[in-house]
Amino acid sequence: MARDKTVYTCTACGGTSPKWLGKCPHCGEWNTLEETVAEANGGATRHRFKAMAPMQPVATLSQIEAAEIERSPTGLAELDRPLGGGIVEGGVVLIGGDPGIGKSTLLLQAAEKLSRTMPVLYVTGEESGAQVALRARRLGLRDAPVRVLAEIQLERILAAIDAERPRFCVIDSIQTLFSDALTSAPGSVAQVRECAAQLTRAAKSLGTAVVLVGHVTKEGALAGPRVLEHMVDTVLYFEGDTHSSFRLVRAIKNRFGAVNEIGVFAMTERGLKGVSNPSAIFLSTHGAPVPGTCVLVTLEGTRPLLVEVQALVDSAGVAPRRLSVGLDRDRLAMLLAVLHRHAGVSCMDQDVFVNAVGGVRIGEPAADLAVLLAIHGSLRGKALPRGFLAFGEVGLAGEVRPAPRGQERLREAAKLGFAVAVVPKANAPKAADARAFEGLTIHAVERIEEAIEVVRGL
Ligand code: TYD
Ligand code: MG
Repeated sequence: MARDKTVYTCTACGGTSPKWLGKCPHCGEWNTLEETVAEANGGATRHRFKAMAPMQPVATLSQIEAAEIERSPTGLAELDRPLGGGIVEGGVVLIGGDPGIGKSTLLLQAAEKLSRTMPVLYVTGEESGAQVALRARRLGLRDAPVRVLAEIQLERILAAIDAERPRFCVIDSIQTLFSDALTSAPGSVAQVRECAAQLTRAAKSLGTAVVLVGHVTKEGALAGPRVLEHMVDTVLYFEGDTHSSFRLVRAIKNRFGAVNEIGVFAMTERGLKGVSNPSAIFLSTHGAPVPGTCVLVTLEGTRPLLVEVQALVDSAGVAPRRLSVGLDRDRLAMLLAVLHRHAGVSCMDQDVFVNAVGGVRIGEPAADLAVLLAIHGSLRGKALPRGFLAFGEVGLAGEVRPAPRGQERLREAAKLGFAVAVVPKANAPKAADARAFEGLTIHAVERIEEAIEVVRGL
């Protein structure tokens, strides 16, 4: 009688119905009913960990001791960086990323390092224990005391966690798990949410640091880990092109540290190796400068990263296309409008493709100026000079706005031997500081017309 165990709950009003309906009988919203566990029945297993957690008294803020959170470094410096220093007792981390990008590899490496100092459980729902063992051998992690469980049923996994009492537990992946309490298939929103909620509860009550692995598909078809983001303490996303060897791990939410911190890895035959000085890895190597490319310095997190953006502008058919990889497409449309309106450069009858080299995703608006200059370069078929870079946010009025910590960006570029920079006026160094940027000619601009003027004259 599986049916009795579940009810359908409206995500809009919270009303329930014993069976699925297209329209909520309580609030009248369409398509809002989702399968959930019926509280009265699921109680026994559901609240096992709740009962174990001690009840907390109400306290005054000033009287609560503000102890620093204790972190255990994973031993992989580039993973600790986005984590905010290491794993936290009872902390739940979600690691999302495309299939095949290296999630299992990275976590197996972290599990091996941590197993030297604490009990570690690796739950694999995707591969058999033998496959995990084979990978561990390939990674050269031969005699790690990592405990492995190949299981996809949530209740059995919770029982194993209860028995093993690991301090670090990996669930690979959350989409393969299913709870007996629900009838829907593994990977459905209801299952993913329920399994994550129960594992989170177990993590908090036992003080286990739990890592949930989640796949994100480009279409978002599978119940993506996005539904879990609000439940967990830390969300990390893997970025990078599976065809290139570099991978970024970015923190997009962290209750225990700074967000937007980035860890950089290179995929080798022996697993993921940290890259401690990554600023130049996303530059493609052209023999001679080619039209349609421009380098920018992004600064998300604490380390500057030089990234090349490429643009291709080509005459279009009936409906011109605007495509971007690694950059926001709406922003691209806006930039093209600004370019037309304020600089008189029209791409109206052209296809425009924009790409950030190496599969990096650039979220910050400081990329605007470089994107515009790459498009402009492709359109007129003229390359920017060797060692050229640009950054700055472009506004709707055609103004070039400063990027945060501009001097740091310029310093990194100067260090890597860049020769010419076009930057927002407010980011240009004062004459007194000029010596720090030796070898770098800096053009300060306030508007995109000026930037294009500078580029034409180079
Ligand atoms: P994997 O960790 O299985 O990805 P995910 O768990 O995110 O799906 O990594 C898969 C890829 O990594 C696979 O294509 C092979 C490659 N790889 C290496 O290049 N070197 C290695 O040492 C390992 C273990 C994997
Ligand atoms: Mg995997």
